[in-house]
Amino acid sequence: MGIRAMRQDRFADPAFWPAVLRAGPVKLRPIARRDQKAWLNLRDRNEDWLQPWDATSPTSEEPPHFGAYVGACLKAARLGLMLPWVIEFDGVLVGQLSLNNITRGASQQASVGYWVAQEMAGRGIAPTAVALAFDHAIRVGGLHRIEVAIRPENARSLRVVDKLGFRSEGLRPRCLHVGGQWRDHLIFALTADDVPEGLLARWQARQEAAAAAAGTVKLGRTKVPPASQITTM
Ligand SMILES: CC(C)(COP(=O)(O)OP(=O)(O)OC[C@H]1O[C@@H](n2cnc3c(N)ncnc32)[C@H](O)[C@@H]1OP(=O)(O)O)[C@@H](O)C(=O)NCCC(=O)NCCS
Repeated sequence: MGIRAMRQDRFADPAFWPAVLRAGPVKLRPIARRDQKAWLNLRDRNEDWLQPWDATSPTSEEPPHFGAYVGACLKAARLGLMLPWVIEFDGVLVGQLSLNNITRGASQQASVGYWVAQEMAGRGIAPTAVALAFDHAIRVGGLHRIEVAIRPENARSLRVVDKLGFRSEGLRPRCLHVGGQWRDHLIFALTADDVPEGLLARWQARQEAAAAAAGTVKLGRTKVPPASQITTM
């Protein structure tokens, strides 16, 4: 790879970041320092829900202060290394999704991490958010492969990749420090050529087919509507 290409790879394209992505009530927008109160409140209420699946540091006990954490994320985003979004549902902060470990050169790949508050679980928010991020990473960011690493015990997250049709690539032993220990993870991935129609379009088509087959609409929960729009800023 030439020096010119390497230099271009180091910094994010402005169309790639900062980006706001939407599908119905689900929105991904860059995390910001002003999210501190809502974010800490949500994390506090969901401590037991999130703790078993949260990435931890093998070298330090204390997680960084929110301001330092956001500053580090945004700096990494400016360098094109990660995209740190929060997830909103109907304008309310309900979770987080990050495209991590963006590598360029011959691999052009990244991994996705996500969580959604327990009180908002079961509305298809995470699959929609992953589909939005995937399409953005492939179509705007020019990436080729997106992977998700999930602990074998995490049945709910396994449903997310299953619903989206991610390919199972097997077990990676003790590959991530989660919940205070090195944990085995199952690896799931999709490449650009797996979903030429786009992952959001495929996910919405699957939802419509499932709803038609069931002939019913779930009451009491807002499902993400098929009409969607993706916007970037
Ligand atoms: C995994 C997670 C992101 C899924 O988000 P989501 O927006 O609820 O995703 P979905 O709506 O597609 O639901 C996924 C599964 O969760 C389970 N679920 C649904 N509603 C639920 C609820 N109210 N309470 C608990 N689990 C529920 C169901 O098994 C569902 O699968 P189904 O649709 O086939 O029934 C969310 O459960 C979460 O944040 N968990 C804790 C953190 C975590 O595991 N992060 C991922 C690390 S890899």
